Amino acid sequence: MPFTKVSAILKEADLHHTSALAFNCVDYTTASSVVHAAEAVGKPVIVMLYPEHSYKNRFCSLEGFASMVKSLADKASIPVGLHLDHCSDYAYIISAVKAGFPSVMYDGSMLPVEENIVNTKKVVETAHILGAEVEAELGHVGFASTKTDQFNEDMYTRADVAARFCAETGVDSVAVAVGSAHGFYKTAPKLDLGRLEEINAATDTPLVMHGGSGIPSDQVALAFEKGINKFNVGTEFFHLYHTTLHEFYKQYGTEGDFFDIPVYVQKRLQEYLVKKLELCRM
Ligand code: 13P
Repeated sequence: MPFTKVSAILKEADLHHTSALAFNCVDYTTASSVVHAAEAVGKPVIVMLYPEHSYKNRFCSLEGFASMVKSLADKASIPVGLHLDHCSDYAYIISAVKAGFPSVMYDGSMLPVEENIVNTKKVVETAHILGAEVEAELGHVGFASTKTDQFNEDMYTRADVAARFCAETGVDSVAVAVGSAHGFYKTAPKLDLGRLEEINAATDTPLVMHGGSGIPSDQVALAFEKGINKFNVGTEFFHLYHTTLHEFYKQYGTEGDFFDIPVYVQKRLQEYLVKKLELCRM
């Protein structure tokens, strides 16, 4: 089927009191594994691209990536969304929309709130005219490698500010900081579920959780019940991709048939993805 709007996927998730899963992808192997695994379990899914993977066409162009995922979505039996992840560059975001991304993230989470509001609003206004949707971030989801970011409540999202932020920007979804962080956790995260509940009560805008790699599944389930509708996973997926390639070379060395690599890798990625997608209860 054609691309499904990310907002429609999140709305459906909300009706089921659960969250859609969104995976950072970088190439055909990762994106096709995501779409095929979602088809295998009959769940919607969102493919995301980090701008770092397309800047200056390092790994792929925006147009190339968007049309590759579009062709996967067109043939898929489940709803597939496409989203540009974390970007704070207005011009690049708009170029992504023009290149075929129906959903983009403007990340102004490092800025003072008022500046984040002004910039997010500007991106929303333009993106909406062009028919695209926008995710923003309020509070700041830091990095697990710092050991401290995930526990720093000064970086967490406040419910009253979230209500104002969403109303003033007209954003389609908002990433919240409630104890998750990007990368592999050095210390197990402890999500502030009370705060999440308050934020969810303060705004009707769908809530997004970043830093989905390594959060214990009992906490993930509670976060979904308490209002998360989009759950981003990157690190553990990329890590599996790379370790599986290493495994292939270790197992077959130079004797391996290199035509087999994509099949070998996709099988392992899909096994992981099928399990991960079970978190989504729809
Ligand atoms: P992880 O890499 O920690 O899974 O987080 C991914 C993410 O939040 C992408 O926006």
